[in-house]
Amino acid sequence: MNMDSSVLLTTELPLPLFVRGKVRDTYDLGDLLLIVATDRISAFDSVLPCGIPDKGSVLNQLSVFWFNKTGGLMPNHLVEAVDDVKRLDSYLPNEKRFPYPSYLEGRSMIVKKMARLPVECVVRGYLSGSAWAEYQKQGTVNGEPLPKGLKESEAFPQPLFTPTTKAETGHDQPLSPDEMKKLVGEALAEEMREKTLAIYSYAHEYAQARGIIIADTKMEFGLDGNKLILIDELLTPDSSRFWDAGLYTVGQSQPSYDKQPVRDWLVESGWNKEPPAPTLPPEVIEAAARRYREAYEKLAGRKLR
Ligand SMILES: Nc1ncnc2c1ncn2[C@@H]1O[C@H](COP(=O)(O)OP(=O)(O)OP(=O)(O)O)[C@@H](O)[C@H]1O
Ligand SMILES: [Mg+2]
Repeated sequence: MNMDSSVLLTTELPLPLFVRGKVRDTYDLGDLLLIVATDRISAFDSVLPCGIPDKGSVLNQLSVFWFNKTGGLMPNHLVEAVDDVKRLDSYLPNEKRFPYPSYLEGRSMIVKKMARLPVECVVRGYLSGSAWAEYQKQGTVNGEPLPKGLKESEAFPQPLFTPTTKAETGHDQPLSPDEMKKLVGEALAEEMREKTLAIYSYAHEYAQARGIIIADTKMEFGLDGNKLILIDELLTPDSSRFWDAGLYTVGQSQPSYDKQPVRDWLVESGWNKEPPAPTLPPEVIEAAARRYREAYEKLAGRKLR
């Protein structure tokens, strides 16, 4: 149930559900998928009871933006961004052609279904989050030794590829280069590494010139026959750490460009981080919504549709 008509918390489309994640509801169209980004938000591993207005549209339209921009570097699964819900008919058999809700416009996309490869291709440009925790403890990131004396949030000389498993339950586990080769084979492992680094480097430079640092991000790949294809979401605030380039300071943790008002309020509230999470006050919801829209506008260079 949506508690507020301006946010979409869940969808109930008359189509087979492929997967309902923390944020997105994905439907199975046979050879294709319909990925719907809702306004759900998670923090500290819990989905909050309230949504953030327009967050789903930001997520979806940013992915579409990056898929279009990086198409020359790497083919991806995007077939069509759903800007007019009537277009859905062309992908559905007659008996599935219902009047679909207009809320799908701007927040959903049709993609080609692929055989998913079981690796989260993480790339990090800066020493932050779980990498900073590991480095402080043992001087390594994903098991690889790094020079001594690096500071929190410091940029690495070169971005690091730190893949993990895609855990069905619980937390993703780091994968060594050998473990990744065992999972997908040597040739694919190398291609995934190269493409992840190339897309990240391109996007990092592009975003930095527009005031946003993409500190790290995660990509997923699938196979179309034996051809590697970029799938899932791309370079969104949910799959990446976005920082405000104007506030960046080495030697401390950086505020999240989009989620910081939410995290700050949750910490202040004294919530013990065990589900259920508390609901946010309207001014925190509005502050977060503004940050998500701003991230989109800075990167895409135009207003959200
Ligand atoms: N083109 C595609 N073909 C096949 N599977 C895809 C494609 N694009 C995305 N997927 C998969 O669909 C799933 C989308 O799930 P989603 O990200 O919404 O939730 P989740 O990964 O289960 O959990 P979380 O919300 O924590 O990310 C992922 O498993 C992703 O790998
Ligand atoms: Mg996911």
